[in-house]
Amino acid sequence: MKFFIDTANLDQIREAEALGILDGVTTNPSLMAKEGITGYDNIMNHYKTICEIVEGDISAEVIATDFEGMVREGEALAALHPQIVIKLPMIAEGIKACKYFSEKGIKTNVTLVFSAGQALLAAKAGATYVSPFLGRLDDVSTDGLGLIEEIRLIYDNYGYETEILAASIRHTMHIIDCAKIGADVITSPLSSIMGLLNHPLTDIGLAKFLADYKKGNQ
Ligand code: E4P
Repeated sequence: MKFFIDTANLDQIREAEALGILDGVTTNPSLMAKEGITGYDNIMNHYKTICEIVEGDISAEVIATDFEGMVREGEALAALHPQIVIKLPMIAEGIKACKYFSEKGIKTNVTLVFSAGQALLAAKAGATYVSPFLGRLDDVSTDGLGLIEEIRLIYDNYGYETEILAASIRHTMHIIDCAKIGADVITSPLSSIMGLLNHPLTDIGLAKFLADYKKGNQ
């Protein structure tokens, strides 16, 4: 399973990259705004900086909601760096743009996916990634993991190559459950990735090993 970090925060991206397990980055307009990255040039430069930190796919989301606008923005983003993946909203115009980019060999990530039918359309349009929003479904008392299972089944039935990128991850168990289901990728905040490291028995065991070493080597 690939690990992407879901942030536009450069320090957090560097920290995850330093761990040696990072395969890519996802951003969205809210995450960019949270870091105070505003204005066309600043946004484009920020994507370039992220591409220089991480070797892997970097999702950059279009703002336009019409086909022509998405194509214009997506082409400018794709020209920035070969690692850029064009993130498109799951609306009719987004599906048209997805088909357009996939025919040109440009990677896409269809985002804001909340149903199996939407994921099926994204795969038909040749999306590189489909992003079902796990946590946001859980937030409204709907089974987010159940959706990942449904998409896995459908994609496996037909051999679709679109990768399931489980998004809107809220905690470590989401990551573990996605791995059990067979999601191809998770994109997660740094805190949930780092949370996977923790176990009290590891800490207790390490403290004992070090104490025993100290006793024998004084
Ligand atoms: C990533 O591609 C999504 O934009 C992101 O995971 C959404 O997460 P949120 O529901 O925590 O905002």
